[in-house]
Amino acid sequence: MTSQTTLLNTRFLTAGYGPVTVLHGIDIEVNEGEIVVVLGANGAGKTTLMRAISGTIPRTGNIEFEGRSIKKDSTDAIVRAGIVQVPQGRGTFPELSVADNLLAGAYVRRDGAKAVADDIAKWYSVFPRLQERSTQRAGSLSGGEQQMLAIARALMSRPKLLLCDEPSMGLAPLITRELFNVIGQLNKEEGLSVLLVEQNANLAMHIASRVYLLETGVIVASGSAAELSADDSIRKAYLGF
Ligand SMILES: Nc1ncnc2c1ncn2[C@@H]1O[C@H](COP(=O)(O)OP(=O)(O)OP(=O)(O)O)[C@@H](O)[C@H]1O
Ligand SMILES: [Mg+2]
Repeated sequence: MTSQTTLLNTRFLTAGYGPVTVLHGIDIEVNEGEIVVVLGANGAGKTTLMRAISGTIPRTGNIEFEGRSIKKDSTDAIVRAGIVQVPQGRGTFPELSVADNLLAGAYVRRDGAKAVADDIAKWYSVFPRLQERSTQRAGSLSGGEQQMLAIARALMSRPKLLLCDEPSMGLAPLITRELFNVIGQLNKEEGLSVLLVEQNANLAMHIASRVYLLETGVIVASGSAAELSADDSIRKAYLGF
């Protein structure tokens, strides 16, 4: 067995909105090179979990990234540390062109214009549709194209950990499959670690190293995709077969 290095871990992570607590003490880990999937129904707290990790909402408990506590870090510092979130429902600047969105994604980088331009070329080759539409306003792209742009833009910051919030939302099955393939490929070829939340379990399970089930702000089960789909009640509730 290869030894695993913990990239992210949360301990008793609690968060909510005003007086309402949504996450009731979440303990999860993402190891280096893993794709970890969090499954849960509408309102379970998946987006809230992403926001708590990326620091866009107040939270208590502990969050460590590469062995260092990031619970007091600003959202900017968290991006610089290497965690980037693709928000649910796209996350692009609609008034900017495709090319300018990609450039904006690189704002935290200090490795120069050439490296940034090389990366833009790379994402264009992964998502040729974005290249064809490089001068088009992001807001006028189709839903699937916007989702691709949101992911490419997030990757422009060269993250170590990509937080992906329901990338399949509103996408045709074929595009979803394409997107999951790309995520799986980046994971294998570039060692990108991914924490992905989904309501739609089937495709996500295929690329998952490990899975957590989130129910009303509590992790109720975890394991490999194979372990969880071997459990009848879990399979019925989350996989629908
Ligand atoms: N900005 C907010 N202000 C107040 N309550 C919120 C806010 N965002 C989410 N909530 C509440 O927090 C709970 C969890 O919401 P969250 O968006 O995390 O769920 P989710 O698992 O991502 O659901 P979905 O699958 O529908 O995206 C819900 O009860 C929701 O109403
Ligand atoms: Mg959500």
